[in-house]
Order: sequence, then structure tokens, then C-alpha cells
Amino acid sequence: MTDLDIYAEELIHHYEHPNNKGEIAKPSAKMHEENISCGDKIDIFLLIEDGKVKDVKFHGSGCVISMGTASMLTDEIKGKNLAEVEKMDKAGLLKVIGIDPGPVRMHCATLSLRAIKKAVLEYEKKPVDTATKEL
Ligand code: FES
Repeated sequence: MTDLDIYAEELIHHYEHPNNKGEIAKPSAKMHEENISCGDKIDIFLLIEDGKVKDVKFHGSGCVISMGTASMLTDEIKGKNLAEVEKMDKAGLLKVIGIDPGPVRMHCATLSLRAIKKAVLEYEKKPVDTATKEL
């Protein structure tokens, strides 16, 4: 089994048994994001305290990559400063999931990151579109 297989298995495991699934009743920030090409979607809920992500939940429907990544990424950002979350880019995301889905499926992997970054930027009253369009 190669490293890639192991990471792919982990992604599938997260898809089948996602962490952080659900909603936060009174979120500090929330965001809905969709991939227009396939119709897959996600809603992200953030609880922010002292400039940090205290809790995060999501729900949505999508492929193994989009939903598996959402589970892994929400684990990753818990406890992080908003500034760190804001800075997360494609390279950082691929490090978290451990595989490169390639150009055709990249939009699947970035779905949750776009939603999370937009939620944080909107919460901070910063421009949303320019900071997330490279994703
Ligand atoms: Fe739609 Fe992956 S096929 S997000």
C-alpha cells in the first residue's frame, strides 16, 4: 500500500464517519457554499471566541473528496486563530488531506475551505470574493 492509498483511505473514512457534522445553534459566523458544476453544497457554522475558532460544524451533500475534506479540515481549524484560517490556501489544504485530487477534482477539495474562509472574512467584515477566488 502506498502513502497515497493510506491518505485516500483516511479521506474515505472521514466521508463515511465524518467529524463535526451538525449545526451550531447560535453561530458567530456561518456560510453556504456550492459547486455549481455538480450541485454539491456545504453549510459551515463557526463559534468564534477571543479571535479563535472555538467550535465548528458542517452539513452538506457531496462527493467523497468534498465531504471527507470538510471533516478533516474542520478538525484542523478547531482552536486556530482567525488570522491562520484566513491565510490557509490550496497548498495548506492539500497538506491537511494528504493527497492532490488533481485539477478536475480540485473544486471538490476546496469547497469547505472556501466556505470557512468566507465565513471568517465576513465575520471580520473584510472583502470575501477577492480573498477566495483563487480557491
Ligand atoms: Fe461535486 Fe466533488 S463532485 S464536490
